Amino acid sequence: MSQLGHVLALFIILASFSSSFGSYQHQDPLYPPASKRTIHDRRLEFETQSFGLTTRPIPFTSPKLVNVDDFRAKGDHGADDTESFSKAWREACDSKDSVLVVPRNMTYHLKPIAFSGPCKSNFTLKVYGTIQASRRRSDYPKHTQHWLLFENIQNFTVEGGGTIDGNGRKWWKNSCKVNKTLPCTNAPTAVTFLNCNNLRVANLRIKNAQQMHLTFQKCVNVNASNLVITAPWYSPNTDGIHVTETQNIKIQNSVIRTGDDCIAIVAGSKNVEATDIACGPGHGISIGSLGAGNSTDFVSDVIVNRAILSKTTNGVRIKTWQGGSGHAKNITFQNIEMHNVKNPIIINQYYCDRKGSCLDQASAVKVSNVVYKNITGISASEEAINFKCSKSVPCQGILLEDVNLVYQEDASVKASCESVRLTSQGKVSPRCSN
Ligand SMILES: *[C@@H]1O[C@H](CO)[C@@H](O)[C@H](O)[C@H]1NC(C)=O
Ligand SMILES: *[C@@H]1O[C@H](CO)[C@@H](O)[C@H](O)[C@H]1NC(C)=O
Ligand SMILES: *[C@@H]1O[C@H](CO)[C@@H](O)[C@H](O)[C@H]1NC(C)=O
Ligand SMILES: *[C@@H]1O[C@H](CO)[C@@H](O)[C@H](O)[C@H]1NC(C)=O
Ligand SMILES: *[C@@H]1O[C@H](CO)[C@@H](O)[C@H](O)[C@H]1NC(C)=O
Ligand SMILES: *[C@@H]1O[C@H](CO)[C@@H](O)[C@H](O)[C@H]1NC(C)=O
Ligand SMILES: *[C@@H]1O[C@H](CO)[C@@H](O)[C@H](O)[C@H]1NC(C)=O
Ligand SMILES: *[C@@H]1O[C@H](CO)[C@@H](O)[C@H](O)[C@H]1NC(C)=O
Repeated sequence: MSQLGHVLALFIILASFSSSFGSYQHQDPLYPPASKRTIHDRRLEFETQSFGLTTRPIPFTSPKLVNVDDFRAKGDHGADDTESFSKAWREACDSKDSVLVVPRNMTYHLKPIAFSGPCKSNFTLKVYGTIQASRRRSDYPKHTQHWLLFENIQNFTVEGGGTIDGNGRKWWKNSCKVNKTLPCTNAPTAVTFLNCNNLRVANLRIKNAQQMHLTFQKCVNVNASNLVITAPWYSPNTDGIHVTETQNIKIQNSVIRTGDDCIAIVAGSKNVEATDIACGPGHGISIGSLGAGNSTDFVSDVIVNRAILSKTTNGVRIKTWQGGSGHAKNITFQNIEMHNVKNPIIINQYYCDRKGSCLDQASAVKVSNVVYKNITGISASEEAINFKCSKSVPCQGILLEDVNLVYQEDASVKASCESVRLTSQGKVSPRCSN
């Protein structure tokens, strides 16, 4: 193909990537029926491989393709590709309109690494192959919180249908939640986006994180879609998607099956939308925990729309610690199906997962304006609804509308409602017993 041909093909390919797809329940979101995408993906990969080797320099008007293999990445078992990725990143980030490519059918091994901006312009990372974390814990400096850290980047896209593998088994074995004789320490988050603006993360598999899988921290304007996040149910603290101090984020069309929260929305997050999400196993969709260690935390304007939770410990949960302050408000959970969920609807203002004092205190994070609408399905415990709000700061403006939860076939089902100002609309079952 001529150079112009390359450029043209690429242009078409890049333009075609903006499309999204529909139904999430029945198919793997990474591999939608649209065969177009696959062909384009293959073509881009082909382009990339010959491009990097034979046809530099590239005309300045085209996207510049940077392939990690051109920086001596090995992509086979045993070799460490960290330095190659660092160099490739620098090259791509410092170029205009670049695309950094991680080729298909290869497994690249990385130690903890920071991919830092600012970059020169809009920038895309295409992960077609697999990026796998180093198995050796000694490769991680002490107190390392991140494995792959993307920071200070604007107008950035990560996509490609490839896999990011945290290789977390060693970390799980050394967790104090698994081996009670060990001290509690943090393990790294597999993928972190820190201080990113206008970010798109799509069509990726993230699995077996050391601790959390995917964190957005201090980001603004994020679209995360078509993600498949998996880890065994017994893997400790392996949150799927963790949203912290982040505003304007949409999470769409994703499947999350891990050992901890499916999606956790914590302090400083605002305007969070999660749509078409399948969760379970795991701990469900959670706001909080907020107010730990007497902190002042705010979360507002959250909507969770169309979710299926299967065999999770919680369905939709708000959890706050005693002694905190701030608020969790304007939160909507709607069109949600529960399949054998232990606590389908729960607000717990007495959350406490550490030993020691979890006593009633005078202050609490204020929970208000929470809507539960069209929530149906099966509870795995008889208490399908549990509002355990703070005595000193009751929950206000809580609305249940068309909520129908049953406890495995015909056993009786209950709602427990403490310190909550509640309104019901439509058919609501169960209703508060106290
Ligand atoms: C990747 O592997 C698949 C399955 O083994 C094979 O069909 C495909 O041709 C490979 N692609 C490349 C670029 O090697
Ligand atoms: C990101 O996009 C915005 C809006 O198009 C633009 O103003 C800004 O300069 C871009 N930043 C970079 C680093 O490309
Ligand atoms: C860069 O990205 C921003 C935001 O994602 C977008 O608005 C803008 O059109 C992009 N610019 C180019 C030249 O692609
Ligand atoms: C728990 O950790 C201790 C101390 O490192 C170790 O001796 C023991 O074998 C571990 N137990 C299991 C079940 O791994
Ligand atoms: C996110 O998606 C919305 C449409 O749902 C679009 O308007 C917005 O530009 C997208 N933002 C980014 C950063 O891709
Ligand atoms: C939180 O405040 C309470 C009451 O003032 C105090 O007893 C407790 O020690 C504080 N906890 C922390 C972690 O600072
Ligand atoms: C509540 O949050 C939604 C987004 O989920 C937002 O569109 C709406 O404006 C917010 N309402 C108030 C009163 O802030
Ligand atoms: C209620 O939610 C379910 C999904 O759980 C959806 O299929 C149904 O259409 C919703 N009903 C209404 C009236 O929106």
